[in-house]
Amino acid sequence: MGRDSGRPVGPFRQRCRSLPIGWTYAVEPGRLRHVTGAVRLEPVDESNLEPLLSVAVAEAEPADVMPPVAAPAGWSHARRDAFRDFHRASFGGLDAPTRTAMYAILAGGEVVGMIRMSRRDEPDAVEVGMWLGRSARGQGIGPAALRELLNLAAAAGMRVVVAETVPENRGALSVLEKCGAKMREDGRRVYAEISLDSTPPAL
Ligand SMILES: CC(C)(COP(=O)(O)OP(=O)(O)OC[C@H]1O[C@@H](n2cnc3c(N)ncnc32)[C@H](O)[C@@H]1OP(=O)(O)O)[C@@H](O)C(=O)NCCC(=O)NCCS
Repeated sequence: MGRDSGRPVGPFRQRCRSLPIGWTYAVEPGRLRHVTGAVRLEPVDESNLEPLLSVAVAEAEPADVMPPVAAPAGWSHARRDAFRDFHRASFGGLDAPTRTAMYAILAGGEVVGMIRMSRRDEPDAVEVGMWLGRSARGQGIGPAALRELLNLAAAAGMRVVVAETVPENRGALSVLEKCGAKMREDGRRVYAEISLDSTPPAL
């Protein structure tokens, strides 16, 4: 998977409700707002790991971007090292021991967040997770990044993309709904499923 392979190539480019590229829905139905610059994905590697860490430290909570570790609260040195280790463990992508491919999300050429897909037990299914720095949220970058990931998942032979969140995470629910996910609420969790077999919506 090359550095430019995150460019839109497949049928899911227009999947998240068909819109002109660079536009997303505004709060009011029927109105559009512009997404600043093109959104693209780059595999996380040593070249973008420090920029990604900088965004996380400046604009995200540790709990939103990495698993819990025993370290002093906040972005301590130990937690920054754990962040690096967590991402390096997945440099090998879907076939690495972590079975996870991580991508830096770039908007207007700047790293603004991360999206990942992790193999599930079923051979043709992956689970998606993502985060953006606070200043990048609410501009349609999340749906654009998920759309790119759907293309990469389809290219990797996947047929189903799933996600799990909580009912309170309106941002995550909104992104998943915009990308056509079927949602199922089960107590304190919400399970989302996107089928890559279904025909993308017509333009
Ligand atoms: C979830 C997340 C990736 C969504 O991406 P996004 O690019 O902000 O998505 P959108 O621009 O489509 O906005 C989604 C919703 O966020 C809300 N929102 C708007 N402005 C926002 C802001 N400044 N900050 C947070 N949320 C905002 C709106 O309710 C919007 O819904 P709407 O478009 O239906 O009105 C992003 O909010 C994020 O990184 N959150 C923290 C990490 C996280 O929760 N990840 C998901 C774990 S399952």
